[in-house]
Amino acid sequence: MTRAPVNRTRRVPRTVFEHGLIRPLFQVAFSVLEIGLKISGLHARGMRNAADTQLNRFDVSLDGLPPAFDGYTVLHMSDLHADGPVDLEASIARVLDVVEVDLCVLTGDYRYRLTGIWEEAARPMERILKHVRARDGIFGIMGNHDLGTMVEPLENAGMRMLLNDHTVLRRGDDEIVLIGLDDVHAYQSVAVAAAALSAMPQGFRILLQHSPELLDEAEAENVSLFLTGHTHGGQICLPGGRPVMTNIRSPRKYASGLWSHGRMTGYTTTGVGVSVMPLRFNSKGEVAVITLRQGRKP
Ligand SMILES: [Fe+2]
Repeated sequence: MTRAPVNRTRRVPRTVFEHGLIRPLFQVAFSVLEIGLKISGLHARGMRNAADTQLNRFDVSLDGLPPAFDGYTVLHMSDLHADGPVDLEASIARVLDVVEVDLCVLTGDYRYRLTGIWEEAARPMERILKHVRARDGIFGIMGNHDLGTMVEPLENAGMRMLLNDHTVLRRGDDEIVLIGLDDVHAYQSVAVAAAALSAMPQGFRILLQHSPELLDEAEAENVSLFLTGHTHGGQICLPGGRPVMTNIRSPRKYASGLWSHGRMTGYTTTGVGVSVMPLRFNSKGEVAVITLRQGRKP
């Protein structure tokens, strides 16, 4: 499918981590930390942790879920950073090969770097997606590491990209509106994303958005389920799993796991891959398989 060129001009960074003046200091600090971890022997352990993808299956009870979708299964992956130094393909394949679902969604960040070349991400993405078995197909959105020129290769690899777009999933007479909005962390303003969301069809709405930073607008626009990522669950966490950094402007409650925000339920995955440093400590990468259930929210 041929698409019009996608405008993905980066917005002015707003988090401390992304600030143009402070970011180089973080990069120096990360480099020093990596050297220290290599000397101590912890670096190899962190890389092994990063390559150990978990399968996380759970149910989500949702008010208003159309009856025909009770038991509908959604495979959610995010933040694969597929061209990074950690070889994740074997562990992802091991998980995907035992899973068969109704729908697969990916919430952005297919490449490792923020700038420069990206072509290396296309081939591993193609190989990984061959392991996905999803009856209603594979849908994706763009993250803050992704470029508009990646859309066509990703679609050739088997994904349908929802770029401020939607699709309708049907089971008999029942419908779900699946909406994908471009990343608000670094590219699209919250106001533009909210306007795009407002123009989408009403109904039982599932939203794909790279980071949780569209919480209030999504809840106001009657989103029932908000699937997101970006945080990697902190990636490097203190013992007990408390993240050192989350890299979002939302409260930490929304940085990982299942949460509710007003009438809306959300899930922030810890992601599959890693970025900045190829390491995880006290944090697991995951492939989530979510079974939708009719009922009250947790
Ligand atoms: Fe991200």
